[in-house]
Amino acid sequence: MKNKSLISINDYSKEEMLYILKVAEEFEANPRQKILSNHVVATLFFEPSTRTRLSFESAINQLGGRVIGFTDAASSSVIKGESLRDTIQTVSLYSDLIVMRHPLEGSARFASELNDTPIINAGDGANQHPTQCLLDMYSIQKTQGKLDNLDIAFVGDLKYGRTVHSLVIAMSLFKNTRFHLVSPTELKLPRSIKEYIINSGLTYEQYEDMNEVIDKVDILYMTRIQKERFADQMEYERVKNFYILENSMMKNSRKNLKVLHPLPRVNEIDENVDSNPKAYYFQQAQNGVFVRQALLSVILGMR
Ligand code: CP
Repeated sequence: MKNKSLISINDYSKEEMLYILKVAEEFEANPRQKILSNHVVATLFFEPSTRTRLSFESAINQLGGRVIGFTDAASSSVIKGESLRDTIQTVSLYSDLIVMRHPLEGSARFASELNDTPIINAGDGANQHPTQCLLDMYSIQKTQGKLDNLDIAFVGDLKYGRTVHSLVIAMSLFKNTRFHLVSPTELKLPRSIKEYIINSGLTYEQYEDMNEVIDKVDILYMTRIQKERFADQMEYERVKNFYILENSMMKNSRKNLKVLHPLPRVNEIDENVDSNPKAYYFQQAQNGVFVRQALLSVILGMR
C-alpha cells in the first residue's frame, strides 16, 4: 500500500481495509507520534469541507508532518485559468502526498495518473469518498464489535451521497450485510452501486418511509440531501425535508442501534437526538482523525 493512491474504496481489498482499521486503533491509543516529521502533505480543496480537511490536517500535525495547500480554488491560480493537470504537476514538486477534493467525478483518478505522487481522494463530486468510508467502517466496528451480519439502513440522498456509494461497496464485502435503502423515489441508490450488493450475493430492500426500518437495524446511516448536486432547485425544495429523525422515532429500536451521519447535517436529525446515547455522529467525526493518521502512515511507508 506504500505510495498507492486511494481514489475509490474498491482500490483496496477487504484485507487492506481491515489493516487500515487495525492501524487506526493504534493511533486512537496513541495519536501523537512524530513519525511524519520528514513529510509534507498538500491538502487541495476545490470544494468546501470542515471535517475532511481539518481532520486530515489535525492528523498530519499530530504526527509531526507539515501541511501546505488551499481551502478554496479561488485562492489558487485556478482562478487565473490554470488547469487541474498543471496544478497537480506543480504541487507534486512540493509535497510527498496530495489530499484533494474536487467537484468533478473522476478528477482524483485523473490526478493520480499524472505522476507518482500518491493522491488521496477526499471526495470527487457525487462519486466516491473513500476515507469517509474507512472511518465509517471503523465506527461500525467499534460500536458493533463486528462488520459481518449487520442490518444497515441508509437514509436520504442515496443518489448523490458519495459517502453512501463508498460504504455500500465496502460493506458488500462482509458476510450477511442486509441493506435497507430509504430515499425519495428520485434519490434512489444508482443501479451501478446496487450491482455491488447483487454481485456479492447479498440483498437489499428499498423504502420511502424511514419509520419502516428504524426498529430493525443496527446502524441508521442518515445523510443530507445534497443541495449543490441538484440541477433543478425546485426538485431540491420538494425533497429537502423528507426525513427528520427525532428521538420518539427510536423508542422501540434495537439496544445496539447507532445513528451515524457523515455530516454536515442540515435538518435531517433533530438536535435533541444529539444527547441520545444512540447518536454517534460526533464520535464518528473524531474517528476520522485516527483513520486518516493510519492511512497517511501506511501510504507514506511509516506503517
Ligand atoms: N463528511 C464530510 O465529508 O464532511 P466535510 O464536507 O465537512 O468534509
